Order: sequence, then C-alpha cells, then structure tokens
Amino acid sequence: MTQQQMMMMEAVERTLLKAVSEGCVENSLEFASKNAAGGFDHKDLCSAIRSLSASGLVVAKEHATQVTVLTEEALGYVSQGSSPEAQVFAAVREAMPSGLTMSQLKDKVGGQVAGVGFKQAMQAKWVSVLKQDKPKPKQGEEEGGGAAAAKKKEPKAEPTILASCESVEDKCLVLLQSVAKGEEVGPKDAQNLKKRKLIAVEKTNFFEVAKGPKFALERKKEATDLTRDLLTNDKYTSVAFKRYNFRAMAPELSGGHLHPLLKVRSQFRKIFIRMGFEEMPTNRFVESSFWNFDALFQPQQHPARDAHDTFFLTKPMFSDSAKWPADYLERVRKVHEEGGYGSLGYGYNWKLEEAQKNILRTHTTAVSSRMLYQVAKKMEREGKFTPCRYFSVDRVFRNESVDRTHLAEFHQCEGLVADKDLNLAHLLGTIKEFFSKIGMRDVKFKPAYNPYTEPSMEIFAFHPGLGEWLEVGNSGIFRPEMLRPMGLPEDVKVIAWGLSLERPTMTLYGVDNIRELFGHKVDLDMIKRNPLCRIGLD
Ligand code: PHE
Repeated sequence: MTQQQMMMMEAVERTLLKAVSEGCVENSLEFASKNAAGGFDHKDLCSAIRSLSASGLVVAKEHATQVTVLTEEALGYVSQGSSPEAQVFAAVREAMPSGLTMSQLKDKVGGQVAGVGFKQAMQAKWVSVLKQDKPKPKQGEEEGGGAAAAKKKEPKAEPTILASCESVEDKCLVLLQSVAKGEEVGPKDAQNLKKRKLIAVEKTNFFEVAKGPKFALERKKEATDLTRDLLTNDKYTSVAFKRYNFRAMAPELSGGHLHPLLKVRSQFRKIFIRMGFEEMPTNRFVESSFWNFDALFQPQQHPARDAHDTFFLTKPMFSDSAKWPADYLERVRKVHEEGGYGSLGYGYNWKLEEAQKNILRTHTTAVSSRMLYQVAKKMEREGKFTPCRYFSVDRVFRNESVDRTHLAEFHQCEGLVADKDLNLAHLLGTIKEFFSKIGMRDVKFKPAYNPYTEPSMEIFAFHPGLGEWLEVGNSGIFRPEMLRPMGLPEDVKVIAWGLSLERPTMTLYGVDNIRELFGHKVDLDMIKRNPLCRIGLD
C-alpha cells in the first residue's frame, strides 16, 4: 500500500466508525454512494469493514443483493453530459433551418452516436426527415457526356434531417444519472434502458455494520513487538498488543537441507557413541594398497585388487613406503610369503611396488587397519593393552557397473571391538545389539569368506515390508595374520563388522533405486522434503 492509499483507508475507516457510532450502517452500498464525494468506493469500504471487524471494532453481516449499474457505453454518455439522442438533436438544431444529412450528422457526432441517437430522436419526435426530389440534371450534361458519363451513377440525393422543436429535455441522461447515484428508476424506464444496453443488473454483496465488542472512534495502533521503550516507560500496560495469527502461513524457508544419508549417518553415530564406540578418522579417500589390502592379509593376486574392482590412481601412482614402519612392513611381507603365528602364509613373492600403489579406498576396513596398528603402538608405549571400541562411517569406492543397487561410490559403516579373549559369541551378541538399535531386530548369520577374518559371517536381516531376508552386512574376527604383525599379542582378539549406509537408508526412506538417493539423478525436492530419521531416537 502506498502512503496515499493508507491515508485514504484511514479516512474511510474514520468516516465509517463515526457513522457506526451514530447508529448501525445498514447497507454498505448505500453508504458508499452517499459518501462517494468523500472519494471512496464500495471496494475500499469493504476492505475497511473486513479489517475493522477482524479487530473487533465493528461487527459486519454480509448480504447478497442485486444492483443496477451503468454499462461502459452509458458511463460515456454520463461523462459527456448528454445522451446520444440529445447530441443528435443539438447538432441538427444548430444546423437549422437547412438541417443536416446523415453523413453530415455522422461527421458532427460520430457514427455510433448518430446511429443510436437518430433512432431515439425520431421515436421521441425531436427530429423529422425531409424527403427531397431528385435534382434535375443540368443542361448539356446529358448530351455531351458520351459513354463515360452514361456509366456514371447519378448521385442519390440524401434526405435532410430537421429539428421538430425548439428544445428538448434529456430524459435519458437524467435516468442514467440517477442509476449512477444508486437511485431507483421506474420499471418501464429500467426495461427500456436495459434493452438499449445502457444498464445491467449485477449480483453483489454488501455489509450491514454495527458496533463491535472493541468499538472505538479511532483504531488504536496495536503493538507487534514488546520494545525496550514500552518496557522502560511502563507503556506496555496501556498499549494494545496485536494477537498472534496462528493460522498465518509462514514464508517457506530456503535454508540448507540434510540429505537422508546424512540423517541416517548421524543416527548411526549416536548409536555407536551410546554403545561406547569412538569414531576413527576417515579423511583418507586416497589410500595405499598397503593399508587397504596388504595389512589385511589380502594377497596381491586377489581379484579384488584388480583394476576391474578397484580405482587406481595415476597421479601420484605410488605411496612413499618410507613412511611406513620398516619393521611392520617386513612382518607383513613375511606373513604373506611364509606365514607365521601358526599360519602357512600364501607362499608367493610379495612385492613392495604392489603395496605402494595408490587407490581410492575400497572399504573402511582400511581405516580400521590403520587404527589397529595405532592400538598396538599405544600398547607398546604404555606397556599394557587397553580394550577399545571404534567405528567409522564414510565413503568408499569400487569400480562397479552402476545399476539400481550399486554405485561406484557409496558409504560404509564399520564397527570393531578389541579385547582379550573375544570370541564368536561376542561378535554375534554385539552385532545383534547394534542391528536391533538400527531397527533390524531379526538377524541371521551365514558363513562367508574374507581374507582378513576367520570366521567370517554375512549378516541378514528380515525386511517386514518385503517379507524376505536381505543381506545387510559382513563381519568376522580379524585373523592373527593381520593383527600379530602389528604387534598385538595372541590373546587380543578383534571382532568387526561392516555394512553400507545406503541399504538401510533406502529401506527407511522407501527409495528403491540407489541412483535416486545419491548421484547426479537425485531430485533436489526429495532432499528438501525428506522426513526425520527416526531410528535410534529412543
Ligand atoms: N570390509 C568388509 C566389506 O567391505 C566388511 C567387513 C568389515 C567384514 C569388518 C568383516 C569385518 O564388505
């Protein structure tokens, strides 16, 4: 609203409130036309009434009615101050005594007014038409004209319009003016004006307005904020406060939104932390084959170490093996080649160059192997082993062909517990507890194989929606061939399990194509509107 419109609205409100204070305003339409001189129309008045009644200053009852309004054409005549018939009469009258032909009349008052006005003026007998005789052709024209003249059509003489009286009363205009003022016109006149399409009947609503419970002659500005000024000067005791409109629509916030994967990840974190696990640093997307494979007793010819399954870096292609502890490196080589700690090893020629190859880590177990080496180091420093629990949730990469359940880039979540004399029962119990916390109460295990765990078990969970058992993770007890070279003693056992973050997220959020969850095909709207993750909230 402009400043001017605002002042206008205030003026309308004041006029209305004054009238209401003197008695009920029965019809807003009549009230508006009575005050038309004050510059407001019915629409302005209606918005003032609505706003005042919302604030309780007035009560308003809405009624439906029919009003007679002027058509566009009639509005024109009212503003010209003359009906078409009166315009025709005036033009003809002025041209007396000779009168006007139709074309001359059209030139004077315009085609439309001439047409309508002439018809009406004739009916009212204000004008008449003088039929003229054919003008006689002039001497000589007939003979000398030749062929060309014979073809020429003789101009038809136009009849002359003459005024039949001295002056007229513009009854039509008077009627239109009364309609404009909202006054009643007689049924016969109304019918006639309607036929001439000068008036139309419209349905409209009007208000009956009376004093409201908070009636006042002036609307009090309601305070919307409790300001310092209101408080320090005790003004807040006398000021009226605007009520909260709890039904008002709030503007949509366009802030950041959490992706479902992030929501599930943060719940997984909470579950792990509540179970006493610490998070491992997962910031190395680029890893050496050494920590990703060799440290895990994964032989160098293992198919997973093929370029078909793993992304190898070309720049830098190799890690600097000087950064790895030389004695540990030697023990790793030895366990691969010759075995030890009760193992036969693989009996092949272990190559440092193969271990140095940089890759994108294929699993978060690379994070675990680095961590467990640190655990062994700590034990060495402190002279005693302290049991520990660790977890990680982060991204891993595999050279997979992408389909509805596989991506080349996804997230893994991994947990491990290191303590003396842990056994399979501990692993089963820990996994059962963890999975029940993420909402998978029914789990089953199936023997499996991993180069770094013995025994190894795949984890299956029952999906009530699909009515079937789904593979949800992999687990095992880390082999001595992995732990002993690090320096961990024989009785320290490490149980571990891993699962993808995408699988449970898809189940929780009802996404059945992984490409709709992660990657360039994701619908941004899904990210904006996805609900809270409700696992692990209890
Ligand atoms: N690294 C395994 C995988 O990628 C998961 C796993 C973690 C298995 C820990 C056993 C122990 O599937």
